Amino acid sequence: MQKILLLGYMGSGKSVVGQSLSQKLAIPFLDLDREIEKQEGKSIRDIFEAKGEIYFRKVEHTLFIKLLQSDSGFVLALGGGTPCYANNHLQLKRPDSVSVYLKASIQTLSDRLESEVSARPLLRNNQDADLSEFIAKHLFDRSFYYNHANLKITVDNKSVNEIVSEIILRLA
Ligand code: S3P
Repeated sequence: MQKILLLGYMGSGKSVVGQSLSQKLAIPFLDLDREIEKQEGKSIRDIFEAKGEIYFRKVEHTLFIKLLQSDSGFVLALGGGTPCYANNHLQLKRPDSVSVYLKASIQTLSDRLESEVSARPLLRNNQDADLSEFIAKHLFDRSFYYNHANLKITVDNKSVNEIVSEIILRLA
C-alpha cells in the first residue's frame, strides 16, 4: 500500500493538506507529531522542555521508521525538522512511498508563523531575532534535506483544495 509523506517547514500546511488529501484518497491520515505526543503522553512543547531536542529527535526517528515499516498505506505529515536529522532524508526516496515537499516562501511562512512563535519550541528560543531572518537562515540549512522529496509543490497563495488537486495530479 502506498505511503505519502508530506514534508516542509513549520507552517507550510502539512497537517491541513494531509488531512484533506487522505480524505480524497480514502486512506488514513497520520501526523508524526501527534504520534510522538501519544507515545510520550506529553505535548511536543513539553517534550522539548522536559527532555530536550536530542531526545525528541531520537523518538521522532524511531517512530518514523516504525511507521514506514508497516504494511498499510497512509498519508503521513512529518514534523518540519524530520527530514533533517538522523539520516531521515534517505527515507524520502523509498520505492514504497512518495514524498512531497510543500514549498512555501519566507514571506508566507513568516506571515503564518508570526502569531505562533510562543507555541513553537524552535521559534520560542529565537524570539529576539527577526522572524523572517531566522526562517530564511533555517530554511537555507534545511533545503538540502527537503529537496530529496520526490515531488515539490509550491503552496504560496494556493488554497488547500488547489494544493491537494495538484498533488493528486502529480501522483498519477
Ligand atoms: C519542528 C517542527 C514541528 C515539531 C517540532 C520541531 C521543526 O512540527 O516537530 O516542534 O524542527 O521544524 P510542525 O512542522 O508540524 O510544526
